[in-house]
Amino acid sequence: MNVIVIGGGIAGLTAALRADALGHRVTLLVKGALGDGCTARAQGGIAGAYGPGDSPALHALDTLQAGDGHGDALAITALVDGAAAAIDELIAAGVAFDRFADGLLARGLEAAHSRPRIAHAGGDATGAAISAALVRRLRASSVEVREGAFVADLLIVRGRVCGVRSLDGVETHADGVILATGGAGQLYAHTTNPPGVTGDGIALALRAGAAVADLEFVQFHPTVLAGGAPFLISEAVRGAGAVLRDAGGHRFMLDEHPDAELAPRDVVARAVARRAAAQAGPVMLDATALGAETLAERFPTIGAELRRRGIDWSRRPVPVTPAAHYLMGGVATDIDGRTTLPGLWAVGETARTGVHGANRLASNSLLEGAVFGARAAESLTRHPLRYEFVPPETPEGDANSSGREQRVVVGSGGQDADIVERTTLQQLMWEQVGLMRTEEGLRDAVARLHAWSPPSATSPTAQEDADLLTVARAVASAALARTRSLGAHFIVSPALIGAA
Ligand code: SIN
Repeated sequence: MNVIVIGGGIAGLTAALRADALGHRVTLLVKGALGDGCTARAQGGIAGAYGPGDSPALHALDTLQAGDGHGDALAITALVDGAAAAIDELIAAGVAFDRFADGLLARGLEAAHSRPRIAHAGGDATGAAISAALVRRLRASSVEVREGAFVADLLIVRGRVCGVRSLDGVETHADGVILATGGAGQLYAHTTNPPGVTGDGIALALRAGAAVADLEFVQFHPTVLAGGAPFLISEAVRGAGAVLRDAGGHRFMLDEHPDAELAPRDVVARAVARRAAAQAGPVMLDATALGAETLAERFPTIGAELRRRGIDWSRRPVPVTPAAHYLMGGVATDIDGRTTLPGLWAVGETARTGVHGANRLASNSLLEGAVFGARAAESLTRHPLRYEFVPPETPEGDANSSGREQRVVVGSGGQDADIVERTTLQQLMWEQVGLMRTEEGLRDAVARLHAWSPPSATSPTAQEDADLLTVARAVASAALARTRSLGAHFIVSPALIGAA
């Protein structure tokens, strides 16, 4: 088969390499350069129940609980059961995971994991190590790589996806297209995601009529360096013993949750935001008790960046704030990455497989990319013909998670509407479709997003702006439709949001 993979993170690289190994003719398209995306920046690591006293069943339970019970059991089972093989495959590709003195893989702890089970490389440089190893493998494979190829549309014939059209008008035909473009962190004014993460794959799927689901669930990471360009300070730092303190030095997470700093990420992010609002200044991440030697050995990348900014975190706490980090929802898929459109697959953060529920468990994202990237490539051969995939329904019976319902609200703006301005959209999403939401704010955001027009997409930046607008409308509409708080989707009264 001729296969197109769009995106060069762990999910896209894994899918391309596995499809190539299975004998398909694979073309990998990335809009920028390989290594531009989130994978290469991932610090924490990749989760897997590979240590003594741990099991895939425990990992599954933690995943389901962190997701506030909204995850899909079948998908979670596929994820946790696939972890050992995925990590072995990465080792075979040349990823030098850190090891204990006895030679066993080192196991880090992160929030909401009941066991230390995060494999990491170079301390906090796991994503860079994985990206480099997979790109090396890619260069040695038969996969044709086209960098600077921005896909603007999917080609569809008689309801089946049969290729792509790039922004420069070049059409490439294929028997199967795999979307692996990552999430949409650039929807928000403050994000850990690099500039190119603009929801392109989700926008492509929406324009083509594929179902999406769970887009209201956006994860905000609680500990991003406050002030200056956003820089993630890994949850693994809290897993190693760092604590959060308010302006008075009080360890406030002890008052918020039995697991304190290692509570689920959405709980910690909201507590950090509330405390910062109450004291009118950022809270502090205190890693001083870990000592200079441990910090240097375990978190060299973070230490180097902090030093570059004039901060010695072994001596004083660092100011932190939440920022948009990860999109739990996406293009609705089954456990083999198949979307509702024949010929179209989606993997990694672009997809809504159902593994993350309403809030992703830390370090399950690299794992998802590796496991479901491989599964999608394998399913190309098993399901080359037409099939019918029914998208997930919400447990509450409201229609907000059904792709059909979300597609209804994704229209083009009015004829004479203002062209969307990226920073204005990002600020609107941050203020009204962010960490804490009100019904009024969501209603206003939906109206304003629909009043803007997309720019005509004649340049990569214009195409990104159009994609951001498409995805923003879908996220805000999904959030408005989900009237009760669940996981990362948190509805409060207007008085409370004023206080935050
Ligand atoms: C982190 O290192 O805190 C981020 C890891 C993740 O998003 O899973």
